[in-house]
Order: sequence, then structure tokens, then C-alpha cells
Amino acid sequence: MHVGVVTLFPELIAAFGATSLIGRAIETKLVTLHVEDLRPHGIGRYKSVDDSPYGGGSGMVLRVDCVVAALEAAETALAAPLRPLRILLTPQGQPYTQRTAEKMRDHGAFLLACGRYEGFDDRVREFIDWEVSIGDFVMAGGEVAAMAIIESVARLVPGVLGNSESPQVESFSVGNRGLLEFPQFTRPQEFRGREVPEVLRQGHHAEVSRWRAEQALQRTRERRPDLLAAGTAPADAAPRPAQHSRPSEPPASR
Ligand code: 6GU
Repeated sequence: MHVGVVTLFPELIAAFGATSLIGRAIETKLVTLHVEDLRPHGIGRYKSVDDSPYGGGSGMVLRVDCVVAALEAAETALAAPLRPLRILLTPQGQPYTQRTAEKMRDHGAFLLACGRYEGFDDRVREFIDWEVSIGDFVMAGGEVAAMAIIESVARLVPGVLGNSESPQVESFSVGNRGLLEFPQFTRPQEFRGREVPEVLRQGHHAEVSRWRAEQALQRTRERRPDLLAAGTAPADAAPRPAQHSRPSEPPASR
């Protein structure tokens, strides 16, 4: 997989690329990461990449000429066998989901343009394929979104995860029918009065599978009914009354 990132904070993305999962994937050549510093594509003595908005107002706007120059340089440097998807990272983009991650993995090459300041000159949008947001909240820049996207796509590339961490059955995946993941347990069998569910200790594989399917559905119903309503997950599996309901807000610390 070929990934390029256009950013004013190349050291942030480089550090991420040198770490853990992604570091290993790059070492083993399963992933190529090119970080394109936006700054050298700036204008004048101070290499400005932004300017004040036409029509007035506060804040600064990233220049279209600098951003497009950086995208083109990144595309050349990446030398992917196919044209990389150009993706703009902004809070105005399409919601990023596991489905998006799978599509990006399937395409095989993409460039992520990270914004800073108030935003991009709108004409940048004529030079990109897709605009993506990682959620309905606002960050100061796209770098954290870029890292989230790179990590979620890279782990879908065959060989990046070990076999034991296989992403076939996990939250949101097609293998899990778009549901949240079922609850997992390990030793000890009892902790401060809380027992591991009996069915998991009996070794009846069919019973375990049935229980997990029910739990995944129940959990999704309680926590993320929107996933069932969206139609990607089935609402028809064996219903089961909730034994304990979880608050949708994080619990107060104890
Ligand atoms: Cl992609 N960028 C910024 N700056 N904020 C965000 C985002 C992206 N996605 C959610 N919030």
C-alpha cells in the first residue's frame, strides 16, 4: 500500500511512521509512507502557505497553489503503480467509516492533505477526489485524522497484523455483520466476585458461537442502535433481553 501525507508537521507523521504497527509494515515493505512537507511549497522569503481570506474575516486560509504543488510533488515521490486517491482531511468531509478504510485498502494508494488554520482555499476541492472527516468535532489540523486513517487502513493490508490479530471478526467488519464485537474474557476465571460466563468455559463451540452472535447483537442494540438502523447490520437475529444496560455516556470515575 502506498500512502502520502501533505502536512505542515512532517515530524509528527514521521514519528508515527517509525512506530509499532506502521513502522513494522514499512520495514517489511507492505506499506510505503511518503511525508511531503508543505512548507517548501510556500511563497517568498518566509515560505508562506496561507493568506487572509478574500471578503475579509478572521483567520488564515491555505493557498491553493501551495497545496496543489505539494500534492503533485507527493504523487511523484510516492511513485505508486496507479494514481493515488487524493483525500482532503477536514471536518466538512464525508464521515470516515470501516467501509471507507476497506475501500482505501482495496484502491492501494492514497494521498492525505492535512489542513491547519481556518481551512483550504475552496479551489483545492477541484484537485482532490474525496473529502473526509473522522467525526463531528473540530481539531486544529488534519494530522491526527491522517494517523487514524493510516493505522485503520494499514491493519487491513494482509500481513500487517499477525494471524492471531486477524481483523476478520471485529467491530464494524463485514465478518462481524457490521455489529459491535462480542465481549471477551481471559484468566482469572473469577475476579472480585465477577465470573467469566459459564458458556465460554464449557468447550461447546456451537454454543459459544451462538452466545457471541447474540451478545454482539444485544450490545449493538444497546449502545449503537444507529448501526442496526443503517441497514449494514441485520436486526433479525435471536433477541435477548438485556441483563445489564450500559450508559451511553462514559461512566463517572470511581
Ligand atoms: Cl479530518 N480535520 C480536522 N481539522 N478536524 C476534524 C477532522 C479532520 N475530522 C473530524 N474533525
